[in-house]
Amino acid sequence: MYDFDKLHNRIGTGCYKYDALNLYYKRDDLIPLWVADMDFGTAPEITLAMEKRLQHPVYGYNFRLDSYYQAFIDWVQRRHGWSIEKDWICNSPGIVPGINFAVLEFTNPGDKIVIQEPVYTPFSGTVKDHLRTLEINELVNDNGEWRIDFEALDRQLQGAKMFIFCSPHNPIARLWTKEELLQIGRLCKKHNVLIFSDEIHNDLILSDNKHIPIATLEDFADFTISGFSPGKTFNIAGLMSAALIVPNSKLNKRLKNFMFKMHMFAINSFGMVAFEAAYTHGDAWLAELLTYLRNNSELVRQTLTNSLPYLQIAKQEATYLAWLDLRYTGLSCKELNKLLVEKAKVALSLGTEYGASGEGYMRLNFALPKAVLELALNRIVETLKEF
Ligand SMILES: Cc1ncc(COP(=O)(O)O)c(C=O)c1O
Repeated sequence: MYDFDKLHNRIGTGCYKYDALNLYYKRDDLIPLWVADMDFGTAPEITLAMEKRLQHPVYGYNFRLDSYYQAFIDWVQRRHGWSIEKDWICNSPGIVPGINFAVLEFTNPGDKIVIQEPVYTPFSGTVKDHLRTLEINELVNDNGEWRIDFEALDRQLQGAKMFIFCSPHNPIARLWTKEELLQIGRLCKKHNVLIFSDEIHNDLILSDNKHIPIATLEDFADFTISGFSPGKTFNIAGLMSAALIVPNSKLNKRLKNFMFKMHMFAINSFGMVAFEAAYTHGDAWLAELLTYLRNNSELVRQTLTNSLPYLQIAKQEATYLAWLDLRYTGLSCKELNKLLVEKAKVALSLGTEYGASGEGYMRLNFALPKAVLELALNRIVETLKEF
């Protein structure tokens, strides 16, 4: 019903993925497999709602109506089995701004904040930018299976103020199990640590298991801020509307006050309409998207591992970002990047962007039409087959 094979020329739209290629890779004739957005058009139901809004020529200050909140509340119930209340929702232009607000409001300079690497770059950036103390719990690659070192985490959470958690995880593509989530929550409770659970990828589940919001387990909701957004799910990150779920009334009040003081209560007219339309009408489109992504993920795995027997790919339980272990080549990320840019003419993300432990890994975004993905994968195989 929806066309994910359609090629959209994004050049000149001001998108990072294509228009900033030259800035980051020093050439623009590359197939971009880096920035984490998709080359698919969003759900037509969302475009239609925005078109309707566009026809009304007044774009003044906005106030979120009850229908906006209800669409989100219903989605969280329907898709994630979590009954949330309107008062729990704190609005934010994005998850990353939300992490920044929480760090500023709930920690002080010098306070210890724990993250797990490799992980989405702004986690460490936010901690460092605000002069908090960064503590890294390294994720462990056990021969292709990624797991958490809970003993180290227990030690590291001691004396910490906040744990910034990525669930599901970018870039290692893990969907955390209930057992793992329970261990994390119990350790944070034991050490009195606030959890910021970034769940932006929570609708993009490729395995047969379901995503579990950590705040739905035991009493973890009492010390957890959960970040949800239609940005990744529906490819509308550029519309900048996200929601933080904060059930604890004291934390909730403090965060809302902080946002209020920052004048963060307004919202872009189109972001508002798209958010509501996505969560009201997006199920059918998302179901087809997930089928397409599962097929692309399989294509990545088959094409690369059939021809490059030493290459390992992290199990793709979630996200459209494949985490390639290329350490067997003996090349650094910089050297791999040079080769992939100059010979394969593809732009991947360097593993080191996600922490020092990402050395020798590259991240490949496979959310693009299959025909272009095939071309990119064949070029990668040709380039790396000498190793
Ligand atoms: C784990 C994670 N969190 C947050 C973001 C970005 O969130 P936002 O655009 O809502 O700030 C990304 C984008 O790649 C991400 O992967």
